[in-house]
Amino acid sequence: MKKILLLTAMLAAAATLSAQVKVSVHETAQDQPVIPAELYGQFSEHLGKCIYEGIWVGPESDIPNVDGYRTDVLEALRALKVPVLRWPGGCFADEYHWMDGIGPRENRPKLVNNNWGGTVEDNSFGTHEFLNLCEMLGTQPYISANVGSGTVEELAKWVEYMTAEGGTMAELRASNGRKEPWKVKYLGVGNESWGCGGDMTPEYYSDVYKRYALYARNYNGNSLFKIACGASDYDYNWTKVLMKNARKKMKGLSLHYYTCKTWSGSKGSATQFTPEEYYNVLAKTCEIEEVLKNHFAIMDAYDPDKKIALVLDEWGTWFDVEPGTNPGWLFQQNTMRDAMVAALNLNIFQKHTDRLKMANIAQIVNVLQSMILTDGPRMVLTPTYHVFRMYNVHQRATYVPSDYKTHDIVSAEGRIMDDFSACASRDADGKFHVSLANPYLDKAVTVELAFDSLKPSSVTGEILKADRIDAYNDFGKDPAVAPAAFKGAKASGKTVKLTLPAASVVVLEIR
Ligand code: AHR
Repeated sequence: MKKILLLTAMLAAAATLSAQVKVSVHETAQDQPVIPAELYGQFSEHLGKCIYEGIWVGPESDIPNVDGYRTDVLEALRALKVPVLRWPGGCFADEYHWMDGIGPRENRPKLVNNNWGGTVEDNSFGTHEFLNLCEMLGTQPYISANVGSGTVEELAKWVEYMTAEGGTMAELRASNGRKEPWKVKYLGVGNESWGCGGDMTPEYYSDVYKRYALYARNYNGNSLFKIACGASDYDYNWTKVLMKNARKKMKGLSLHYYTCKTWSGSKGSATQFTPEEYYNVLAKTCEIEEVLKNHFAIMDAYDPDKKIALVLDEWGTWFDVEPGTNPGWLFQQNTMRDAMVAALNLNIFQKHTDRLKMANIAQIVNVLQSMILTDGPRMVLTPTYHVFRMYNVHQRATYVPSDYKTHDIVSAEGRIMDDFSACASRDADGKFHVSLANPYLDKAVTVELAFDSLKPSSVTGEILKADRIDAYNDFGKDPAVAPAAFKGAKASGKTVKLTLPAASVVVLEIR
């Protein structure tokens, strides 16, 4: 009863709030962190149509391609400025044996993808294809190594094969067409080792991690950033045990956090949802900030100098698959709601970079909250893609602290979220960028940005909004969600004023 009264009071408060916000932007603040580009990381798993069809069609394909990589997807990914790409899984990683994916493609063994629909694949996309893709995109590879069903020797040799200049593995690599070693920085030692990656306890995995990590050597100046498998969501004990037992041997500890329709995990349709479900999803996704803080607090107790990174290497929405598609392929559409999820999360991540150094949305093409969807030769850019493209101005920019007062939006499940979100940065050329999100479905928000001393002389921007919150970009149709120039911001003295339409995302460039 008490809870219902509280909820009613909060709903009443939300209904009467004025949709206005003043954002104080402290551009004079000194010693602010650089926003790691890696917060805009991506994840590509051998799952459904992510790799095969989504990225790789093979050189013989009728779909236009460059050496087997589809041309349209390559171009779209270049514009996105992908800083880091995780591969080959996910759950797939712990059943992946890298030696099956090298050498002449016609000789590679076939593989049943036990985790994802039992699909048989031909291993035609392997280590060379992945690392060459990263080079083509200017992206750092993040290799997720097999600990669940692979041996220590396999991992040791994989690292040697990718990064050593001499020795038998380097000779094998050269005989497969690549003389120079690649640079590989990020190495994940196991994925979801508490589940699909080996079903281990944190105590047992801590020892396994140390053993596998020990033999993953640094060759010829390549320095591996070793990431231990971390917790899912609210499993704080996993973080505690890993920090207690293995912190001296890791550079990063991962975390996975997905957003479904409800807290209990009911996924819901990606495209058909009520306003209540919309707010539930946003509240659930914004709860990541509290979850991150809880994991940070545990890490702080063991690592007060924050030497170990939290690596959020899987996050995003997880809805029901599109009707008629393979349930194991996790193919979901992507609406303006997903764009809002992306915007709110990225604004949160950028505020916590003292500990959070990387985040990889799941996944890059055709799986879960994708950037890109394909249907044979056709391709669409999703609303989430547009947010990532608009926000990429924050990559490697200096964080600019800002403060503003928000009001509560209370979801149908009684979960609370902020009714406004913003984040600012200054790039190497001195330009300021402010990303703003108005999650209200039915209310515009009037924003005043108030700088400490800057008197802006020019403001430009881009806006992402749609006629409907469930709008999505469909194959063969004009895009229903696409960014447009935003001309509604006015500079005056030390302020910039604008109105954010309901359910919109805006990124401003201010000089
Ligand atoms: O991203 C899909 C799956 O979600 C990954 O394979 C796994 O790590 C997680 O459970």
